[in-house]
Amino acid sequence: MSTAMKQPARQDGPIGVFDSGVGGLSVWRALRARLPKEDFLYVADSLNCPYGSRSAQEIAALSRGIAEYLLGRGAKLIVVACNTASAAALADLRQTFAVPFVGMVPAVKPAAGLTKTGVVGVLATPMTFEGRLYHEVVEQYAEGVRVISSTCDGLVERIEAGDLGGPETLSLLRTCLRPILEAGADTLVLGCTHYPFVAEAIQRLVGPAVRILEPSAAVAEQAARVLNREGLCRPGTAEGTTRFATSGSPRQFAAALEAMLGLQAPVSHLVWSQGRLLDDPSP
Ligand code: DGL
Repeated sequence: MSTAMKQPARQDGPIGVFDSGVGGLSVWRALRARLPKEDFLYVADSLNCPYGSRSAQEIAALSRGIAEYLLGRGAKLIVVACNTASAAALADLRQTFAVPFVGMVPAVKPAAGLTKTGVVGVLATPMTFEGRLYHEVVEQYAEGVRVISSTCDGLVERIEAGDLGGPETLSLLRTCLRPILEAGADTLVLGCTHYPFVAEAIQRLVGPAVRILEPSAAVAEQAARVLNREGLCRPGTAEGTTRFATSGSPRQFAAALEAMLGLQAPVSHLVWSQGRLLDDPSP
């Protein structure tokens, strides 16, 4: 077992959060609002983004490397703020490491309960749709409901590039929404953590009658439950802080933080070396 796997969970450690890029910030935002006293360490593996078209093995190896990095810095709980990594790697992470993990599952259950037309649309990546998690929630909670799944190839890259409503993004959205609208869906699930950042553009395209659901608040609530259940809440009343790190361009990530969340913060650079994620040693 690696030393990271033996890392004891500590109340004063940060909550680790990771995604293939900026998408997981939609979950971090909800976590921060729900758990303001907690410290966070957010890792964006933007160098390897998008994950959605990678193999489950590749995603599992990247997720293990990121989890080891987070545990090596004292993470007491890890939120996999990525539907694709949750689909491909969550079970493996839980078997490999001793800390609790909270993952993402497309919000099919609430959508099935809300729809009036009996038709629900789900936007996600190919790997999310291929994963067991997705098929389990559809089988378990969508009986009698027609679920139209649609991938938006190229949309994650547009959001990573900061295009949240330009012509190329709108064209991609029109294409992936078309089968869902043609089927008469009145409820739409955002099954990728990047997509809440284009929710306004999506709402304009689908119209006010279609209800858009994304699970970040529910994930934050689940993380709070796990912290309480495991006795891992950070002691004291001091406001928590967040450290951001990316394997891509720190400047591009910092620009995304400001554009998407109105937040100015330093971003450190991470480098992959033989399957391990390290703090960039160069000045
Ligand atoms: N934001 C991630 C998700 O929720 C991954 C998207 C990607 O890298 O393809 O699936």
